[in-house]
Amino acid sequence: MKRIGMLTGGGDCPGLNAVIRAIVRTAKKEGWTCIGFKHGWKGAIENIHEELTLASISGILPRGGTILGTSRTNPYKKAEDVEKVRETIKKNRLDALIAIGGEDTLGAAHKLFKDGLPVIGVPKTIDNDLNATDYTFGYDTALNIATECLDRLHTTADSHDRVMVVEIMGRHAGWIALEAGLAGGADAILIPEVPMTADEICEYIQSRHKRGKNFSIVAVAEGFSIKGEDLVTSKKELDAFGHVQLGGVGDRLAKLIEKKTGFETRCTVLGHIQRGGSPTAFDRVLGTRFGVKAVELVKLGKFGHMAALRGREIIEVPLADAVGALKTVPMHLYETAKMFFG
Ligand code: F6P
Repeated sequence: MKRIGMLTGGGDCPGLNAVIRAIVRTAKKEGWTCIGFKHGWKGAIENIHEELTLASISGILPRGGTILGTSRTNPYKKAEDVEKVRETIKKNRLDALIAIGGEDTLGAAHKLFKDGLPVIGVPKTIDNDLNATDYTFGYDTALNIATECLDRLHTTADSHDRVMVVEIMGRHAGWIALEAGLAGGADAILIPEVPMTADEICEYIQSRHKRGKNFSIVAVAEGFSIKGEDLVTSKKELDAFGHVQLGGVGDRLAKLIEKKTGFETRCTVLGHIQRGGSPTAFDRVLGTRFGVKAVELVKLGKFGHMAALRGREIIEVPLADAVGALKTVPMHLYETAKMFFG
């Protein structure tokens, strides 16, 4: 009879509830007790939790967000917090703690494992920038939302002869912008992996307009840097994990494009719309498979590991492999997208 705890950390993400449901349903089959910590590592530090029963997870599969709440709390920000997490695990007589999160949450999970705690990871993020897994759940939903937005913006761009700049999330990786841009027929796709000058971007737009097109769509990742300029951020302060808050590059670019080309240019920031609402079938299935795998890892005592997708298989990988470096867009994929610029 095991007792397991779980938490969701970092930005909310479609598919989190599918993971929680899968863990609880699988663990219950073993006769185990499940505890959910509220608001990420904050709940584990302050021992704020609720027991998760079959009744409490009923009906959550199609729901976006997380029933546990989340936060960007870093247990390594204050030295005493690591000891508090240790104490929480002891007090609740937990055999394992499953951390569901992205680079930051799993980075903390990895450190806690190295500090002797029985931690297992599940990879989450709309940004798809975690190494050692082909996909994270949440990405497919965000990608589909961003693609639909690009489709919708085409009609206004066309009707008003405008250039529409669309700012897309993804932090320092261009996955959502690249694939949504490709799927949504953007005329230029700007990602953090490939900085460009404003003149280079305007050339794509001008060449398109020269061949008779009256509008253009530019997909720009929030982490894109205009060559020769500083990274645009929306806030000066760093978060608990030392990250800047990105945002604003779309607006900056729209102004430059209008000035340089003379075409009316508008910016739309997709923002948290990309993380909202119901997960796609792909994310529900991936989240469910990750949840089942996480329970298997607990059963096998494979702490310090996380569930991952490799091809069509769910495998286990050391947390160390996932958090060492960011998984950015490969250049062969960018080159394919580039064939459709301008
Ligand atoms: O990591 C997911 C993400 O949505 C990023 O794409 C984005 O930069 C960030 O989170 C936004 O965070 P917040 O919700 O704290 O503004």
